[in-house]
Amino acid sequence: MRTVRTVDELRQALKAERAAGRTVGLVPTMGYFHEGHIALMRAAREACDVVVVSLFVNPTQFGANEDLSAYPRDEQRDADLAAEVGVDLLFVPSVEEVYPDGSATTVSVSGITDVLCGDPEHRGAAHFDGVATVVTKLLNMAQPDVAFFGQKDAQQALVIRRLVRDLNMPVRVEVLPTVREPDGLALSSRNAYLTPDERQRATALSRALGAAEVTVAAGSTDAPAVIAAARGELDAAGIEPEYLELRSTTDLSPVERVNGSTLLAVAARIGRARLIDNTLLKSPQGASPQ
Ligand code: PAJ
Repeated sequence: MRTVRTVDELRQALKAERAAGRTVGLVPTMGYFHEGHIALMRAAREACDVVVVSLFVNPTQFGANEDLSAYPRDEQRDADLAAEVGVDLLFVPSVEEVYPDGSATTVSVSGITDVLCGDPEHRGAAHFDGVATVVTKLLNMAQPDVAFFGQKDAQQALVIRRLVRDLNMPVRVEVLPTVREPDGLALSSRNAYLTPDERQRATALSRALGAAEVTVAAGSTDAPAVIAAARGELDAAGIEPEYLELRSTTDLSPVERVNGSTLLAVAARIGRARLIDNTLLKSPQGASPQ
């Protein structure tokens, strides 16, 4: 595996591969790899001839009061893990390489970025402007055939699908399932912030999603019943969510009843960590809505 730090080096390295007709897969990350990242790299390794992983803690997607400076970083460990999975190129640009002086363009996806995490009460839409801008730039830098993202960040995946479609970018977007710890906690680089006690309480997020799944499977599909089931698990763990909402998987509009495939998304602060999780609820076949 080679580590490259400039767009020129990246393009040079990929030029010969592309000329030889080899397909390129890109996995954008902010590093501090866990099994969620590794699963995306493995999928890229399976699907593409050349695998590029970008490691860039993108300052424009962090709010003023967020954890940019505290965000966990360990490039050597990340490089070792990526090499083990068979990644070909690790792209680790500096902030100046990604945002040279005079950068004045922001990519902003409207409609789906001012709810859930984009609600001004929570992270705000500027977070998704930062994500949309850096992902557009990374896709232009690497020009992959396929780019890989995780369902763990469901709203982010939707934003990326939308910008790729709206900007006619010639890339296939693959979204892979959330990887979890054996006790259900969704893997996240931010789990590193949790104390052992908080780590234990954090399992209530996935339990809440599970309780909603059970409720829906039993035929109870109205939003209040589904939300109440999930809420019960959070209450029991003393967790007050930032949001716990049922939304359409296509445009994130609120839904009153689980219908086809519906997103149940949750965000909560536990200690220093802001954690998110979600599940896709499917209305049980043959059950009549109550
Ligand atoms: P980061 O949080 O490092 O995540 C990189 C990719 O890994 C994202 O696509 C994310 O959805 C996925 N991922 C994270 N946890 C996962 C899990 N438990 N299971 C499956 N996939 C998981 O998301 C970002 O970085 C940034 O916003 C980025 C897209 C790189 C833009 O800066």
